[in-house]
Amino acid sequence: MPRAEQYSPHTNLKWIVLGASVMISAGSIWYTNVLVKQLKDRERQQIELFARALEYTLAGQPDENILFVTEEIILKNNSIPVIWITRDGEYQYRNVDVESNWSEARKRKALDKELERMKALYDPIPITYRNELGETEEYGYVYYRNSFLLTQLTYYPFIQLSVIAIFAFISYLAFNYSRIAEQNQVWVGLAKETAHQLGTPLSSLMAWAEVLREDPGLKNKEIISELEKDIRKLSIVTERFSSIGSVPALKTENIVALVHHVINYFRPRISSRISLEVYSLSDTLMARVNAPLFEWVLENLCKNAVDAIGTSGRIAIKILRGSNRKIYIDISDTGKGIARSNLPLVFKPGFTTKKRGWGLGLALAKRIIENYHNGRIFIKSSEENQGTTFRIELPAEPSGTGQ
Ligand SMILES: Nc1ncnc2c1ncn2[C@@H]1O[C@H](COP(=O)(O)OP(=O)(O)O)[C@@H](O)[C@H]1O
Ligand SMILES: [Mg+2]
Repeated sequence: MPRAEQYSPHTNLKWIVLGASVMISAGSIWYTNVLVKQLKDRERQQIELFARALEYTLAGQPDENILFVTEEIILKNNSIPVIWITRDGEYQYRNVDVESNWSEARKRKALDKELERMKALYDPIPITYRNELGETEEYGYVYYRNSFLLTQLTYYPFIQLSVIAIFAFISYLAFNYSRIAEQNQVWVGLAKETAHQLGTPLSSLMAWAEVLREDPGLKNKEIISELEKDIRKLSIVTERFSSIGSVPALKTENIVALVHHVINYFRPRISSRISLEVYSLSDTLMARVNAPLFEWVLENLCKNAVDAIGTSGRIAIKILRGSNRKIYIDISDTGKGIARSNLPLVFKPGFTTKKRGWGLGLALAKRIIENYHNGRIFIKSSEENQGTTFRIELPAEPSGTGQ
């Protein structure tokens, strides 16, 4: 595949970018997790200290130390929500969304709900103290959950990455859109220019043919009719280029007749060892097409089939009507097939495996079928050294024969 390689740097770049983004995302999530873990440990320590402070105030007499402990530790915690319950079932809390002017029942309900959340997250820390007899007695439990800061930090990488992903997706769409618009301009511009440039010599050729026909020396010579055939072919080419350079008009046409028309043009021009057959259950299958462009597509597919076959083989064109108001045109050859790795590339402009190929035939065919005819063209099957089948799908029109 001589020129297939030109696509690989592009593909590689895509993988590199994808790989790098996955690595950056994973790294960012990992690092935040490390931070979250550290902060969690610290909050746990803080709550344990808080529990110890509670114990201290329980055990001792009210003195300056206790005042310090209460102020510096118990009241300083204003970020971690905690509830501690004494063994008599009395609730105390800090940093919990409970207003002091609520009724007792409402407070209790809110606290119980909060407690459920806390229980689900962390094991409670017991508060014990030594009574006057020196025995360890259980006083109650401290429950807590993550501070708002920690909660935010847990979700932060996901929010950040989603925002970046959305932004990247939108930029990709915008970029793609402008690239497609640019490609369209190139196709259309080039086609218009070609049609324009061909037009001038063509009309003068027609005039010359007229002059030659009047020449008595050339009467009854084949030269005139041959010349006229070539002129007709040239005008068809010009018409094709000018059609693709503007919005082509679609007309309801008999697809079977169009296929036969192309085949009849082709048959005398290819080796007699390549057979060329058309199969269709019906003689009229109608679809809205632009005849010059549609014939161009068929020609391109047949040319490719001939190239793939080489010396001898068979080209079969089957025209079918699907049950879903679609017409299928299957072009099969017994040629060398398409390598699996090339399957996604053959419709790309510039992709060719031929020494003298331009790689525009299939790109053009795709453009004509999909952009102008609202149809589809794809490789139905391809087997190396066995052959290939291309399928064209067109929206069918009622054929008028009751079918
Ligand atoms: N019927 C087919 N059998 C095998 N290979 C094909 C066939 N049609 C197309 N290809 C492959 O697709 C490539 C692109 O085709 P095309 O766009 O028509 O460009 P070109 O004919 O100039 O190479 C060809 O070079 C060939 O490798
Ligand atoms: Mg081709």
